[in-house]
Order: sequence, then C-alpha cells, then structure tokens
Amino acid sequence: MAFIQRFIEKMPKAELHLHIEGTLEPEMMLALARRNNVKLPYQTIEDVKAAYRFSCLQDFLDVYYLGMSVLLTRQDFYDLTLAYLEKMARQNVIHVEIFFDPQGHTSRGVSFDTVLSGITDALDQAKCDLKISSRLIMCFLRHLPEDEAFETLSSACKCKDHIYGVGLDSSENGHPPSKFQRVFDQARKEGFITVAHAGEEGPPEYIRQALDLLHVQRIDHGNRILEDADLVHRVAKTGMAMTICPLSNLRLNVVDDMKKHPLRQMLNAGLCPTINSDDPSYFGGYMTENYLAVQTALDLDLDEIKQLGRNSFTGSFLSTRDKQSALQRFDDFCQKFS
Ligand code: ADE
Ligand code: ZN
Repeated sequence: MAFIQRFIEKMPKAELHLHIEGTLEPEMMLALARRNNVKLPYQTIEDVKAAYRFSCLQDFLDVYYLGMSVLLTRQDFYDLTLAYLEKMARQNVIHVEIFFDPQGHTSRGVSFDTVLSGITDALDQAKCDLKISSRLIMCFLRHLPEDEAFETLSSACKCKDHIYGVGLDSSENGHPPSKFQRVFDQARKEGFITVAHAGEEGPPEYIRQALDLLHVQRIDHGNRILEDADLVHRVAKTGMAMTICPLSNLRLNVVDDMKKHPLRQMLNAGLCPTINSDDPSYFGGYMTENYLAVQTALDLDLDEIKQLGRNSFTGSFLSTRDKQSALQRFDDFCQKFS
C-alpha cells in the first residue's frame, strides 16, 4: 500500500458529520427487525443493499427513515452507537461529533429518553474503553413544522448535560433555514451551539441564511458555496469549518464524479473543509474510506491530507485545552510517521 494511504489509515482523526442512524448496517437492520418484530420490505442483506441506489437526497431519506424503524429500545440505540465507535477506534478516530434525529423516533412512539440514553450509554463507554471523546448534536428534521421542532427542543432542554448543540437536516430544498430562525434563537438562548446542513442541494442563499439567521458555528456540507465568491470570501475570513462528505456527495449526485469533487477548490480558496462520512452504512464507507476515495480521485498530496486532518480538530467543538492536546498528538504523529 502506498505511503499516503497508510498515513491516512494511521492518522489521528476527528469525525464532525455523522448521523448515528446512518451507521445502521444491513446485518444489524435485519437482526433488529427480527429481535423487535418489525416488518421490513427486505428479506436478505442483498435486498437491503439493492435499495441503496439514490438519485438525490430525498431518495436516500426515504430509505433512511424506513431503516431506522427497527430501532426501538435503549439497547438498540446502544448497540448501534457502540458498533460505530468500535469501528472508529480501528480507524484511529479519536473524537466524534454525532448527530441524532429524535423526531425520526418520537414520531414512531419511541421516547426521547430511550433514544438519548442508549446513545449516551455507548458514548460514555467509548470514552473509558476506546478513549474516544464525543459531542452530541440533536438535529431538527426540516421537512417537519416549526412547532414540532420547538417540542423537540423542550425535550433537549431537560438533558443539557448530554446534548452540546442543535443542527438542521433532512430535505433541504423548499425548507430554508429561515423556517427555523425562532427555534434556533431559543436554542442559543438555552445555551446550545448551532450548526446546519446548508448548500448540499440547496442554493448558496441557504448557507447565507444559516450564518445570518441561525448563527451557525459550522456549515454542514456547504458544497454550493463555490457558486458565490462573496460568500466564499466571507466564510474563509472567519476560518469556520465546513463538514464535507465525499462518498455521500457521490452517492447522492451532489457530484457526478469524484474527480470533480470541489474539495481542492475549497482548500485553495482558503476555506476550512473537513472529511466526514455522513451516513457511512448507506454511502459505502466510514472515515478512512472517505479520505481514500477523495485522495485517490483528486490525487491529494501529503500536505493536503495533513491540512484536512488538522482541520478536523481545529473545526471541532473540543474545549480549547482538549483541542490543543489533540493537535499536539496530531503533529507528533505527522513528525514520527514521516
Ligand atoms: N440526514 C441524514 N443524512 C443527511 C444528509 N446528507 N442531508 C440531509 N439530511 C440528512
Ligand atoms: Zn448529514
């Protein structure tokens, strides 16, 4: 294996854009369906995988919401989360910032507490046993109405110790950030940091709204920023991180060829892109696979890979002290491995 590929595998990394429900592997989906007596339109692993052909974000979301219907108990959420964290330990991921979609569960009669306790049980265990630190970010489903987002926020307010921030995901087009301005105002008053998916399929205007109306501290995806030079300049000046998800972009037709992925343009424009997996079970790869896919397609050099690795820590929500020590560990690795 080439030096740069071994470097990517061994490099300490942080993942900043990961939907925990998107880590549900077909094997676990079928096993949980059996365990919980949930009917799925799939009989075999091959049936499940055959459904993973998407022409756009909405195609994927339909399959994603169906898949998560097998998650019912605290144990299910624990098993799901721990399986992801164990994989990340093997990929030298040392910090994760995880999204979860409570409305995808409460709408099916699963309580907010069941979801949150299962996930946090696994995060606590991973902190001790796998030495992986974490932050949890609760997303509002943007295709649902504002009042349901407010209800979800009030559940989160009872669990502030476990939830660091709020985000915005699901169907982007037709659901601009402005729809959730009041919810995000309230969330910030309650002390949550804010992020939002913007510019994945939606226009640069949605990125501008995420900045100006939701006061996000990080942009999730943001690919379409490159259509607006003023916005690029503005975001580059702040140093704000963007969570880029190469395999997701390919599988959802945000890019039609990995060789045309805008990652290098983002780096060259002085933006702060990071590499992430989004929904790895559905898109064909976790962190290492995302780095390798984009490195190969764009022929990224070692300095570019190091920049992306560093960005994953500078763009994280670690405390200043923990960020410094993670960056020190990263720099030590770079020095030793070279
Ligand atoms: N939910 C899970 N993955 C998503 C994505 N890539 N975009 C929007 N919502 C999502
Ligand atoms: Zn996402």
